[in-house]
Amino acid sequence: MTKSYIKDLPQRVGQPVQIEGWVTHFRSSGKIHFIVVRDGTGTVQCVVSGDFFADWDHLTIETALAITGEVRADARSPMGVEISVSTIGIIGPSIDYPISPKDHGTDFLMGHRHLWIRSPRQSAILRIRAGVIRAIRGFLDHNGFIVADPPILTPAAAEGTTTLFGIDYFGDPAYLSQSGQLYMEALAMALGRVYSFGPTFRAEKSKTRRHLTEFWMVEPEMAFVEFTENLEWQERLVEYTVQQVLTNNLSDLQGIGRDLELLRKVKAPFPRITYDEALERLKSKQLEIPWGEDLGAPHETALAEEFDRPVFVTHFPTKLKSFYMQPDPSRPELVLAADLLAPEGYGEIVGGSQRIHDLALLEQRLNQHHLPPEVYSWYLDLRRYGSVPHSGFGMGLERLVAWIAGLDHVRETTAFARTLNRVWP
Ligand code: 4AD
Ligand code: MG
Repeated sequence: MTKSYIKDLPQRVGQPVQIEGWVTHFRSSGKIHFIVVRDGTGTVQCVVSGDFFADWDHLTIETALAITGEVRADARSPMGVEISVSTIGIIGPSIDYPISPKDHGTDFLMGHRHLWIRSPRQSAILRIRAGVIRAIRGFLDHNGFIVADPPILTPAAAEGTTTLFGIDYFGDPAYLSQSGQLYMEALAMALGRVYSFGPTFRAEKSKTRRHLTEFWMVEPEMAFVEFTENLEWQERLVEYTVQQVLTNNLSDLQGIGRDLELLRKVKAPFPRITYDEALERLKSKQLEIPWGEDLGAPHETALAEEFDRPVFVTHFPTKLKSFYMQPDPSRPELVLAADLLAPEGYGEIVGGSQRIHDLALLEQRLNQHHLPPEVYSWYLDLRRYGSVPHSGFGMGLERLVAWIAGLDHVRETTAFARTLNRVWP
């Protein structure tokens, strides 16, 4: 008998099959017994009538089993089929499984994350994450971006020194990468259009629903691309990703109760407002902040509320942003940078900018930021040998998934989230 995945059973009605999976439910009604089994591809009800099996007490939740039987059409089941069981074999027992359908607290569930990921909702979220990754890669690969991988062990800060995780590198200091950007700039000068997609690390003392200490970022970088074209690539990427996931992960999105209409509206172009305009809008909403101060989560939420799709906030004050950002030629106190704010209060999902390509200006900026030029000597070389205008951006995967899936917290967007107070399991 051939082994089948549960997802393929609708094509095998009337045939004998063997499936392997885990018990999610068991109940008896007189002499008929119902075992609901999941195998990662789907869930199916298996009906046992007859007395060839006696170990009913052992069919506890999460017991692993092999079942043989015949596939029958069943209009009442979500998949349209059930299995009429001939044999049951226990592969791995499961005694006192700690997670029950009752309400557990978040801390308990995160502490049992290695088991919690088996639940239908968490599995659906992880499939959505996989769909998001596939769409992002598909878009960039198809548009001529070369994937290239920057190092994770690095000698210096990319995004500022306050959130670095330091390590001992054989007696010398080194840091976990906060962003691959500086290396992607070098790679863009070699390959034209490039992207990286990998883990980044920030020792952020922020306990919010948007912050992880380890998160994945996709970082495209493009030679000969200036500020406005950079925004166009961002909105095209975000539109494509959302629309692909809507198609390819529709049942997962429905399964977790996502409002699909909100996602269908995510179409480029996205609105653009300057930092100055943002402050005006905030003022009219009684959320005034002085010029030069950064937008906080409540400000981002209030701005995003005004639009039905993501919104770019552009031209931030130079002093708020990283050392490498190109000044606005008409107002040098501003930088050619933009943050893309997601709707529904999900905050900044993309940060990007045009980069400084002038050597003297970059040296001056390093100096102002108290960053040692010798550590950045290789980065300065990029401005010594054929320097060109270039731009790029970083999109945070977990924030993007949290928004697309409509989750309360980024910790559920990744298999094993790392936060301020959790590195376990
Ligand atoms: O805005 P950020 O700090 O930009 C950079 O790192 C640039 N060097 C990227 C580039 O231009 N190549 O971070 C980019 C994105 C944010 O918009 C956010 O989505 C995500 O990374 N992010 C986080 N996600 C989860 N937890 C955190 N602590 C995050 N910090 C940033
Ligand atoms: Mg940012």
